Amino acid sequence: MQDDTSLFGLTGRKVLIIGGGQGMGEATARFVARAGADVALVDIVAERAEAVAAVVTGLGRRGIPVVGDVLDDAQISRIVAEADRKLGGIDAMVSIVGAAAWGSLLDTTAEVWDQQLHLNLRYFFLTCQAVAKSMIARGTAGRIVGIASVDGQRASPMRGAYGAAKAGLISLVQTMAVEWAPHNIRVNAIAPGHIVTPRLYDTPQRSEGYANSLLPARRRGTTEDIGKAALFLVSDLASYVNGTTLDVDGGQMAANLFPRGFPGSNS
Ligand SMILES: NC(=O)c1ccc[n+]([C@@H]2O[C@H](COP(=O)([O-])OP(=O)(O)OC[C@H]3O[C@@H](n4cnc5c(N)ncnc54)[C@H](O)[C@@H]3O)[C@@H](O)[C@H]2O)c1
Repeated sequence: MQDDTSLFGLTGRKVLIIGGGQGMGEATARFVARAGADVALVDIVAERAEAVAAVVTGLGRRGIPVVGDVLDDAQISRIVAEADRKLGGIDAMVSIVGAAAWGSLLDTTAEVWDQQLHLNLRYFFLTCQAVAKSMIARGTAGRIVGIASVDGQRASPMRGAYGAAKAGLISLVQTMAVEWAPHNIRVNAIAPGHIVTPRLYDTPQRSEGYANSLLPARRRGTTEDIGKAALFLVSDLASYVNGTTLDVDGGQMAANLFPRGFPGSNS
């Protein structure tokens, strides 16, 4: 009987995860490694990259830590070149770094605006560009996945700069998909809803709040929910999926709930 992992077409493939040292990146590393891929973990925190690389090694694949700061333009080409060299080529990249600043639009300074656009969009563009060039040079059938947000698809009260940056990421993914399709590179995004991550810690009270909320899933998502979607998008199972944004949100977008921060909203 055929080994199920062959369905993914990832055996022996090389996957680069930007922000791979915890949370969604760690979960993605575990899923793609279980599907047979070698994984390079880029993180600004060396211990995180090393810990997840060890997890990948424990799953029988090569796990390679790469330490660097993707918000420093000068480091991006070095990070991609180092990952490319150590992996022996990059077949897929999942880029996860990003975070929201809290504040109303009236209070958002130009500095916060620039920081949010850099942290959630600019580095992503520059990293994708460097990785795509490497893929094209090697003639690789590449796959790229970015992490957007439901906040990039609807109003995002109290995190407007973040929402605008994530909307930009969704647009950028579409354009990269079209421009790079002739090079056999697929580019897609995941739009997570409310996900429990190391930064967004859980408490019994918060869990209960979500269980009783209007969110159709009646729970927040896990990093594994995101890792599974990333595995799908970098795999052969998504061979005809290009330029799309996949909501991984427990039905939040479908339910047309009040945006966060409005009176009557569930969060
Ligand atoms: N948690 C949610 O509910 C949610 C919802 C929607 C979207 N998202 C998006 O999911 C993504 C992941 O969020 P998270 O909270 O799990 O992230 P996180 O901060 O927990 O993990 C990101 C990893 O990236 C590393 N990192 C941070 N800055 C870096 C840099 N400059 N260079 C290299 N590595 C760096 C961190 O050390 C960390 O290991 C983000 O893009 C976020 O906007 C999260």
